[in-house]
Amino acid sequence: MTIINDRYLRALHCLPVDYTPIWMMRQAGRYLPEYRQLRALAGNFMTLCQTPELACEATLQPLRRFDLDAAIIFSDILTIPDAMGLGLYFESGEGPKFERKITNLNDIKSLPIPDPVESLSYVMDAISLTRKELAGRVPLIGFSGSPWTLATYMIEGGSSKTFTKIKKMLYSDPAALHMLLDKLAKTIALYLNAQIAAGAQSIMIFDTWGGVLSHQAYKEFSLYYMQQILSMLHQGDKNSDNILDYIPVTLFTKGGGLWLEEIKQTGCDAIGVDWTVNLSKITGRGKQIAVQGNLDPSILYADKQVIDKNVLQVLDEFGSHNGHIFNLGHGIDQNTPIENVQYFIDSVHQQSKRFHYA
Ligand code: CP3
Repeated sequence: MTIINDRYLRALHCLPVDYTPIWMMRQAGRYLPEYRQLRALAGNFMTLCQTPELACEATLQPLRRFDLDAAIIFSDILTIPDAMGLGLYFESGEGPKFERKITNLNDIKSLPIPDPVESLSYVMDAISLTRKELAGRVPLIGFSGSPWTLATYMIEGGSSKTFTKIKKMLYSDPAALHMLLDKLAKTIALYLNAQIAAGAQSIMIFDTWGGVLSHQAYKEFSLYYMQQILSMLHQGDKNSDNILDYIPVTLFTKGGGLWLEEIKQTGCDAIGVDWTVNLSKITGRGKQIAVQGNLDPSILYADKQVIDKNVLQVLDEFGSHNGHIFNLGHGIDQNTPIENVQYFIDSVHQQSKRFHYA
């Protein structure tokens, strides 16, 4: 199968494109009325994730409205701890919660490494169905959370602002935390390889909470395990003439702007960056590595001139190199006005043309 719009994959390979491709983190979600309707129809978020036809529909919704250059499979990073038996649930208006949480070494020892092909087959089914429905229109992104980010939810029992429990374990029983992170890395590698086998055409690893760590702890407890995953992935042949023969991987550590060199050294294909990073300061961009980012999602609340100005600022900072994938610096907020999203995407396409000579 060929890809009709391959700008996103070409940018990941640092090849020339006619304009900068764009997708948005959390592009399927509550800011879309049709998503809210679909979620109501499903009854709850987990049913939406676990029913391939509905997950496929949620994936396609933002592509019907906007001229996006990639689709991301509708699911959640917390499906892995759920498959490990922790019992994920969402209460409306609140973040994710677990029926059981991880408190000590014994809990970690008894955690299974699930076979995602079986326990998360609903994700693989959603991916193959969505590939079929997309019919090559744009590439489909698969994803997972980083081991560290998943561990924060498993040990804190849900979202956290202070990360007290996991940091306490990190400093008082590091061996226990390492055992958990190792199990997660192995499970995630199996999971991502299953997603690739089902049809995911690029992979994104969300390290949403890596930025809360000290620089030493980041390397030891987050980056190291993302590197382990990379070494276990079946990415295919990077030197093939057909870009579809290789599955590029993007690592996104929110708050990781100070560690871009270290992230680059993992051998990932692209670095995702939040809005604190000045793209012109990233060395080797568009040569050795692609860059994804990084508009502050709050800018989508401002008026059109402000959106245009800030889009241009990001494009200008990256400059006339290959290898830029436009995105927000983090997920789109649920109250974002839709007409501004539309305007933003068109603004990226329009304004980026002059940065490319393909
Ligand atoms: O990007 C996409 O469109 C694909 C779908 C996607 C979701 N979650 C759907 C979702 C992706 C890629 C994620 C990743 C995810 N999930 C991350 C990493 C990215 C990031 O935002 O940092 C994290 C940390 C989670 C965990 C999670 N899931 C939280 C903290 C929440 C609740 C927070 C909130 O916004 O309410 C979720 C629920 C969730 N995942 C929703 C969606 C659309 C909202 C659920 C709903 O419909 O009520």
